[in-house]
Amino acid sequence: MYKEAFIDQIIRHLEENLSEYRYKHTLEVANTAEKLALANNIDQNKARLAALLHDISKEMPLIKQIAYVKLAGIELDDCQKKIPAIIHAPAAVGFIQEKWEINDPDILEAVRYHTTGHPEMGDLAKIIFAADFIEPGRKFSRLEKVREILPSDLTKGLIMICNEMVYYHLQANKLIHPTTIELRNKLLICQEEIAGC
Ligand SMILES: [Fe+2]
Ligand SMILES: [Fe+2]
Repeated sequence: MYKEAFIDQIIRHLEENLSEYRYKHTLEVANTAEKLALANNIDQNKARLAALLHDISKEMPLIKQIAYVKLAGIELDDCQKKIPAIIHAPAAVGFIQEKWEINDPDILEAVRYHTTGHPEMGDLAKIIFAADFIEPGRKFSRLEKVREILPSDLTKGLIMICNEMVYYHLQANKLIHPTTIELRNKLLICQEEIAGC
């Protein structure tokens, strides 16, 4: 259980180091993650902390982000190297390990995979991936359906999110990170074989 004073210290860091837009987004992701955690029987305290940390490296210069990725011992794949906007996720792993010695594997995984998803990610990571996508500041019409479904059917809601992500990247003719596709495939298979999930 992470103490309130520690969480407050992180919130202060966010307020001092992030733009107003990113700070507000982060707080909304934290509120959304807590609600999704409650609905899915997942540790709310960890969900709140992981959500607060997920974009902590987003506004750092890229060179600093890459240094934190290295510090975390993470090797960027070819696709990540071509999409600088997603490097802040593995960078946050190195940053929070160094600054606050946060080594909880569930939190590190949730932060690391929040932009792309990953087929092997656990429930906490799924919640953060989803909360980042549906927080109230995100506006487009089809999100309402995803928001409606997620609390009662995490797998179905996550498939809808993966579909939206794939659809967006196809339309924009942008690279799609392979683990997003792998996550989508895994969830679809899980949905078919509910007993195996
Ligand atoms: Fe992010
Ligand atoms: Fe985010």
